[in-house]
Amino acid sequence: MAILLCAPDRDLQPLALAIRACDPGLEVRVWPDHGPLAEIEFAVLWKHPAGLLKRLPNLRAVSSLGAGVDHLINDPDLPKTLPVGRLAGPKLAQDMASWVVAQVLWHWLRMDQFAAHQAQAQWQPWAPARPPHVGLLGFGVMGQACGRALQALGIEVSAWVRRPRVDDTQAKLYTGPDGLLSMAASVDVLVCLLPLSAETDQLINVQLLAQLPPGALLINAGRGEHVVDEDLLQALDQGQLSGAVLDSFRIEPLPSDHPFWHHPKVRVSPHCAAITQVDEAAQGIISQYQQLRQANINALRETPVT
Ligand code: GLV
Repeated sequence: MAILLCAPDRDLQPLALAIRACDPGLEVRVWPDHGPLAEIEFAVLWKHPAGLLKRLPNLRAVSSLGAGVDHLINDPDLPKTLPVGRLAGPKLAQDMASWVVAQVLWHWLRMDQFAAHQAQAQWQPWAPARPPHVGLLGFGVMGQACGRALQALGIEVSAWVRRPRVDDTQAKLYTGPDGLLSMAASVDVLVCLLPLSAETDQLINVQLLAQLPPGALLINAGRGEHVVDEDLLQALDQGQLSGAVLDSFRIEPLPSDHPFWHHPKVRVSPHCAAITQVDEAAQGIISQYQQLRQANINALRETPVT
């Protein structure tokens, strides 16, 4: 039996080599050189072609090549009981934390303004009066890594989570629709790291944006579908938001005529806030496959992101 790696927009040969180097006994195939499809019992996928799952009669589990599983659970061919895993290891979470910290500090310390002053040879010292308060939408592996990294810089962190819980993160936790609006009203920066689901689709809309204090910053490293683009553009144009940093979009690559590209308050990042690295992915895939072999399905399935 074999493992199939499939991500049509990525070169997965280095990942296949790394898996084979760790465990030469494993049969790893890289799409489209998949061999007999009946031999595939575990598939690691990222934006796989429509209809692929239907062609894998002996599939026993799937995993996302990244942290998000929306491309898997939204596939109508995914059997309801098939275990779904994901690769969201500490390195991926650390990369996300570095990216979020960079965006928060860039904006809060007004780095763009200093660049503009330099272009005009202007000497204008300025420093913020206080650190920002950051609200995280989603507080799983990725969100907690971001929270810890921000807190290490003395930044106050709040988080919106699916269910009330007790943890040791020192973040103020909010739940439910009211909690979402309360948290939004209290933060300077709102960071979306949510998984995409029916509940989170279009969550960042005119109502939520209107709750943010004037001049707030939105950072979206979740999915493009979390944001209602028109509502965001309106909030930026009306001055409700001072800026938006967007790493994911409804259509990717972002179409060249999309207003986000040239909006003076939008920073576009081409969906690379955190990209699965070969070594961490190889270890994760091998461990998931071992769990599958040992029928340890609960360990293979990842806990939800929030
Ligand atoms: C990236 O968007 C991921 O889900 O890993």
